[in-house]
Amino acid sequence: MFTTTVVWFLALAIATTLTFQTTATLSLLQTYIVHVEIPPRGTNVSDWHLSFLPKGGDDRIVHTYRHVINGFAAKLTPDELADMEKISGFLHASPDRRCTPHTTSSPSFLGLNPNQDFWPGQTEFGSGVIIGVLDSGITPNHSSFSDEDVPPPPAKWKGRCDLPICNNKIIGARNFIDYGLPPLDHTGHGTHTASTAAGNFVSGANLFGQANGTASGLAPHAHLAIYKVCDIESCDQSNILAGLDAAIEDGVDIISLSIGTIVIHLYEDYAAIGAFAAMKNGIFVSTSASNDGPYSSSVENMSPWTLTVGSSTTYRKIEATACLGNGELFEGQSVGGRNFFPLKLLSLVHFPGQEAEYCESESLDKVDVKGKIILCVIGASNPIGVGRSVKRAGGAGVILMNDEQSGYTTLSFAMPLPSISVSNFVGERIKKYINSTATPLATIQLQGTTFQDVTAPAVASFSSRGPNIASPGILKPDILGPGVNILAAWYRSVDNAKPAAAFYMDSGTSMACPHLSAVAALIKKAHPNWSPAMIKSAMMTTASQLNRDQKPILDGSTNLPADVFATGAGHVNPKLALDPGLVYDITSQDYISYLCSLYSEKEVEVIVREKVNCSGLGIPEAQLNYPSFAVQLGKGGSVTYSRTVTNVGNANSTYEVEIESAPGVDISVEPTVLTFTQLNQNSTYKVEFRRQNKKNETGGYVQGSITWSSVTHNVRIPVSVHLLDY
Ligand SMILES: *[C@@H]1O[C@H](CO)[C@@H](O)[C@H](O)[C@H]1NC(C)=O
Ligand SMILES: *[C@@H]1O[C@H](CO)[C@@H](O)[C@H](O)[C@H]1NC(C)=O
Ligand SMILES: *[C@@H]1O[C@H](CO)[C@@H](O)[C@H](O)[C@H]1NC(C)=O
Ligand SMILES: *[C@@H]1O[C@H](CO)[C@@H](O)[C@H](O)[C@H]1NC(C)=O
Ligand SMILES: *[C@@H]1O[C@H](CO)[C@@H](O)[C@H](O)[C@H]1NC(C)=O
Ligand SMILES: *[C@@H]1O[C@H](CO)[C@@H](O)[C@H](O)[C@H]1NC(C)=O
Ligand SMILES: *[C@@H]1O[C@H](CO)[C@@H](O)[C@H](O)[C@H]1NC(C)=O
Ligand SMILES: *[C@@H]1O[C@H](CO)[C@@H](O)[C@H](O)[C@H]1NC(C)=O
Repeated sequence: MFTTTVVWFLALAIATTLTFQTTATLSLLQTYIVHVEIPPRGTNVSDWHLSFLPKGGDDRIVHTYRHVINGFAAKLTPDELADMEKISGFLHASPDRRCTPHTTSSPSFLGLNPNQDFWPGQTEFGSGVIIGVLDSGITPNHSSFSDEDVPPPPAKWKGRCDLPICNNKIIGARNFIDYGLPPLDHTGHGTHTASTAAGNFVSGANLFGQANGTASGLAPHAHLAIYKVCDIESCDQSNILAGLDAAIEDGVDIISLSIGTIVIHLYEDYAAIGAFAAMKNGIFVSTSASNDGPYSSSVENMSPWTLTVGSSTTYRKIEATACLGNGELFEGQSVGGRNFFPLKLLSLVHFPGQEAEYCESESLDKVDVKGKIILCVIGASNPIGVGRSVKRAGGAGVILMNDEQSGYTTLSFAMPLPSISVSNFVGERIKKYINSTATPLATIQLQGTTFQDVTAPAVASFSSRGPNIASPGILKPDILGPGVNILAAWYRSVDNAKPAAAFYMDSGTSMACPHLSAVAALIKKAHPNWSPAMIKSAMMTTASQLNRDQKPILDGSTNLPADVFATGAGHVNPKLALDPGLVYDITSQDYISYLCSLYSEKEVEVIVREKVNCSGLGIPEAQLNYPSFAVQLGKGGSVTYSRTVTNVGNANSTYEVEIESAPGVDISVEPTVLTFTQLNQNSTYKVEFRRQNKKNETGGYVQGSITWSSVTHNVRIPVSVHLLDY
């Protein structure tokens, strides 16, 4: 369902742009993001921006930016744009683009327990840290946003709260869609992500009685600042930019951005441009990888100054069983619903090769499903829509089988009739059974909530994958977090719960991102002076590559070990991330050097908002002090890069290197021992990657890792090597 949404909006954006390029109708206004030079000394910024617009153009201005870019968003006709381009001080303008927006047991799944340990202790549940959430708004009266045990906002907070009632939990709320209206959430997405990051403790949270327990975000005592930048279906870049601008001005510590779009160049990605300004202000920006997996190079939010989060499963399942007429039983997931279960043994139907195979909208009108259970293939379709069409056609129940790409990642959907989601593998077995008999029968039984899936975390099949198109020398995604069947606050009740206790289960990298925003808040609380890059490094170098069964993390699409383009550094481990031993820090100057090798000075200036002289400054992408390596090697080639680690563990400590080699590549590190005698001491090491000369080798991507280990810490970074065919 996510895939279709994305494609649809991209198509829309392109169509819109084409319309404006081919018609010169004056009445057609299009929003442009306009970059201009810094105003001459002493000039009022608003007046400066107005000077680029036609006379009386005040009402054309959509947003005026202060921190993220030098410029503004305005509605313009093509002729007006052409006139503006001639005015001195104009830099460039780009048409606005649309982006798409891409929870109870995750705290305990991630080792966070209220009764013990570091969560209430060292991190104080994130108390005092401000998480800015750019999304579809908020449901302020929900009990997840109670401010019990949350202190007043810190003195540095300068934000505004445009809700009838604000409290110490929701300290800021702004609406960039409908000015003047409170930023209420009419989709659930923003409520879900905000409560996943910083929802307070709510006991007895459940959906149709399932997944019952105490719900909370990972930073339950952190503050929330809400920036509504998305409407029902999507988010305009000009609004995202305005939300980022305000968040910087207001003084948030963390930004959670479960939104993205595919761009080829970072200087065209306004989320990345805004995030650069945030990073310069010491703000940590967490973003979602997007939901276009398992396809290669589907990852979004590709800049090195943001954290890019992929989605993985947790150990909780709402189990259901599909029982077939021949006695075969197959496991799957459900949500359930009142009076749905138990079902009798009913006729089972499937319509391969017909439109009705996918059970979408009108396709069931021509087939007979009355009182039957129907097997539907779900790929890019919206299963909620499938549930509605089956119900309308009189179906009694639905077995949702994954298509081949969706593989083994089964999602729990709140459906209007009994349903079970099964893997593609199970679906194929059920199809075989249907073929084997003249009277196929089935029933669906709800088993209930369990917390014992040892294959978790597994990478969700929909989680977007690397490699990184915009910057092949930076490995993306960075890390995995829980993002499958996450129960969190919702804007309305789907199960007759009171509105203040409405919870809903949702899946996506949008759900994974706020988990990591919250972990960043916990680290920020424990280490207030750490830079965003240090926080990111702490999470990445301590991430796990194993599931609960102590086996390599699996790819939900294939059930084979997931590669580094699916997992990044691995699955987040909050406890270890608080004490990483060593960190890889990056300054904003380092990013400029990195950008200088990718882009022209003008393009770099669009991102960094200052005059840049790149001569002698550029460094290869892979030389950025990033906590991972993405390296390219031609036939017989070798490259050497360096990394600098900063000691944040024990003052006196010694680390030895351990190399997990990548097939076909010799990796050597110099020196092999790093000795520290002080805190915050830096130490630099060199890594040589040398291609082995094997006649029969085929090229492609191989992976390994480099780990520095002391008595107390393991600091691991993943390595990806692209073996070129030439
Ligand atoms: C700039 O001018 C606008 C009116 O054009 C005014 O509202 C605003 O207060 C001025 N800002 C400053 C900093 O003088
Ligand atoms: C929230 O609660 C207040 C006080 O009970 C009420 O006045 C307000 O209408 C509610 N707002 C929403 C959006 O439900
Ligand atoms: C959820 O759990 C609580 C505490 O164990 C219990 O009191 C409540 O009845 C449960 N709710 C449902 C719907 O099962
Ligand atoms: C079921 O039968 C149809 C038609 O004979 C065939 O195309 C299909 O491959 C069979 N499917 C399975 C899973 O055996
Ligand atoms: C260590 O390196 C970081 C990142 O380059 C830099 O900001 C910091 O000043 C260095 N610290 C020392 C003690 O040199
Ligand atoms: C950029 O820096 C180089 C080397 O430092 C210098 O030679 C050159 O003049 C500078 N260019 C500009 C436009 O300042
Ligand atoms: C580290 O070791 C040095 C020399 O061995 C010693 O002087 C110093 O006190 C030690 N520092 C700490 C914090 O233990
Ligand atoms: C290449 O040859 C080596 C030994 O000559 C062999 O071990 C290896 O499996 C071969 N690799 C491929 C991809 O054929």
